Amino acid sequence: MKLTSTLAVSAALCALTHSATAAEAPPDYRFQVERLIEGIPQPMGLALAPDGRIFFNEYGGKLKIYHPKTRAIVVAGELKIFKDQENGFLGFALDPKFSENGWIYCLYSPPGFDGQNLSRFTMQGDTLDLASEKLLLQYDEQRQQCCHHGGTVAFAPDGCLLWSAGDNTHPHADSNGYGPLDERPGREPWDAQKSSANTMSLAGKVCRIRPKPDGTYEIPAGNLFPPGTPKTRPEIYAMGCRNPWRMSVDAQTGYVYWGEVGPDANDDGPRGPRGYDEINQAKKAGNFGWPYFIANNLPYADYDYATKKLGPLFEPLLPINESVNNTGIRALPPATPAFLYWPYRKPDKWTEFGEGGRTACAGPVFHWKPEFEKTNGFPKHFDNCLLFWDWERPFIKWARLDEKSDLVGLEPFTGAVVASRAATPLASGATKIKRPVFAVFGGDGQLYLMDYGEAWGANGDSQLLKISYVSGNLPPVAKVQPDFLAVSDAPDGEKKLSAKDSRDPDGGALTFNWTLQPGGKPLGTTAEIPVTIKEPGNYVAEVRVTDAQGASSTARTRLNVGNRAPKVTFLEPKDGATYTPGQPIKYRLAISDPEDGESSAKPDELGARTLVTGAFRRDDGKEEPLDPGITRMKQSDCFNCHAAEQKIVGPSLVEIATKYRGQSGALELLTKKIREGGSGVWGPVPMLPHPQLTDDEITIMLRWMLALEPGKGGPALLRGLAGEVTTPNPGKPEPGGFVLEATYTDLGRAPAGELSGRAILTLRPR
Ligand code: HEC
Repeated sequence: MKLTSTLAVSAALCALTHSATAAEAPPDYRFQVERLIEGIPQPMGLALAPDGRIFFNEYGGKLKIYHPKTRAIVVAGELKIFKDQENGFLGFALDPKFSENGWIYCLYSPPGFDGQNLSRFTMQGDTLDLASEKLLLQYDEQRQQCCHHGGTVAFAPDGCLLWSAGDNTHPHADSNGYGPLDERPGREPWDAQKSSANTMSLAGKVCRIRPKPDGTYEIPAGNLFPPGTPKTRPEIYAMGCRNPWRMSVDAQTGYVYWGEVGPDANDDGPRGPRGYDEINQAKKAGNFGWPYFIANNLPYADYDYATKKLGPLFEPLLPINESVNNTGIRALPPATPAFLYWPYRKPDKWTEFGEGGRTACAGPVFHWKPEFEKTNGFPKHFDNCLLFWDWERPFIKWARLDEKSDLVGLEPFTGAVVASRAATPLASGATKIKRPVFAVFGGDGQLYLMDYGEAWGANGDSQLLKISYVSGNLPPVAKVQPDFLAVSDAPDGEKKLSAKDSRDPDGGALTFNWTLQPGGKPLGTTAEIPVTIKEPGNYVAEVRVTDAQGASSTARTRLNVGNRAPKVTFLEPKDGATYTPGQPIKYRLAISDPEDGESSAKPDELGARTLVTGAFRRDDGKEEPLDPGITRMKQSDCFNCHAAEQKIVGPSLVEIATKYRGQSGALELLTKKIREGGSGVWGPVPMLPHPQLTDDEITIMLRWMLALEPGKGGPALLRGLAGEVTTPNPGKPEPGGFVLEATYTDLGRAPAGELSGRAILTLRPR
């Protein structure tokens, strides 16, 4: 009897703990990720207007608007800014009554004034009316040296406006990655006591004001120093910040969160602790410690930069700012420890942060509403969780908060979106995000996430994602194999199309309906069908996959009927042969095409359509030797008319890249042009249409093309049946091989379009 009841109790306990965990982790497949925009130069901030428009700013000065319905991107205006030392268009926020007043608050670095402007502008439709500027406030910084300016701009639920400002202090030189306290004459840019720890400076702070309709502002109750306190600025809400780049305000509690980008010291030492990045939480105004404390108030030691003498450790309960560069009060408020923190190496606490580079960023706190189940908003599971991430490492995580907004624990973000900067695609098929830079939840509970991309060039790989969560029945995922089929290569009936890889995320049975497009001729209703089309031509086979609830989706594949593929063979060199790095490699090719003939008979004609590229591939096998963009272009006819650096029939690809680099909407515009052809932009000669290419294929080509820079036209592309390819000489030998790839694209056999053949071999360095 006793035994049974003990069992019953422990079973009940198990059930309790079990249901707590079972409620966890909404399945990845219920998250749907849509890429709204790509290729935004230096995207920074993001705001959703009540009418559905998405506002975003570029660090270089532009404010842009994305219209979800038309997918159009409009340049609303461009601020005149000073661009050096990380200055720029730092951030913006829309007024809480934006739909009535059109007010937008911008934080930016004006030319001709050493500091930042916080200004209110009025939007006229899609136009940022520059003449409407009302300067709320300006604050001083130094512009002799780099860096750290923050700054996010955000409204709190009580109508107060907050912005974050960096310490405006040079991060390197004699601070050695510890607290920068250089008090020597002329070294103010290396002393964060002039800014973060100075109660008279607005740099190194989170500030809080209440804007008034006339373009001025008042000081709300609850800031760090009551108005009238001598030697203090009443706008200060949080002091002791280093670079609070990404900040957010909880829309329910008004609590403020920011990621603190921390200093570089690798190790603990006599001058203080190793560097940490932090997520901070301010439930009320406070001093957050920089440059005297880091992480959970680990103190730095005072340090005389002239004599190199170490002083005592700073005291978190009573930090004293004795710097010659301090113009504020001496005895500062006690320091508040960070909410979360992590160093370069794997921490003992919160091991899930792992190790690597650091740039901590705070995103929004998610608050669930029942209607989100209908609007595809995020699930209840994440109610009252703070989204935060590391821009550099990178990772994205949730911090679960309790009803007092205290930390309960850390949880992974959905596996449907993975922060990673590895070159290889994710095996899981999840969406990769390289450097998350800003995130907001819409009123429908969906998440808008801006990815800065890899920080080079025009941020060609930046993207704005919309992430939703489907609670009800999910449409099936339609898949078709292969994604291209040349039918004439095999006897009748031997070629098959398969939609077997299609699946229903909810696990139900699927039905299939195949049609031939254009025209809609039925092809079959089984998962696999034989292809028995006799009429030559280019076709699209479409399969509609439907689940038991009637939800469906389609997949397409292209068919080429009537043309036969060419065969490409290297006569020289032999696969696996050796070469001397830095020396040219001779190659000879033979082409055989059932329609076009043999290269031995028509060397010039077939040679003109033969392209050869060579590139070194390291043995780790991770790096593709060639960008998929160039591979796709070789398989189409692009290189008949275009070369990387010189004009042939069409403009050089580098010229095209230079013209469109960083232009929003360029991808859409050029996709349409490649698909439909046309003339008049570069001259009277038209480009032929390419109706057979899919959007994805064109995007892959354009991504490669638009990243081209003068003098760096990518791998050399050779034409002809014989020639020489130069091989790189890295000086230090690397494990790997030189991959030689030859492609021949035939003339097609009208009405069937062209097909290409390819030969690849790998040579080993001597
Ligand atoms: C028959 C020759 C020809 C072929 C084949 C060709 N192009 Fe072009 N391309 C041109 C010409 C000519 C222009 C200039 C058109 C103009 O002035 O509007 C051009 C322009 C372009 C542009 C710039 C468009 C603009 O409006 O500025 C891009 C991008 C481009 N081509 C990509 C491609 C790609 C990708 C392929 C292969 C899928 C390709 N081209 C195949 C001849 C060609």
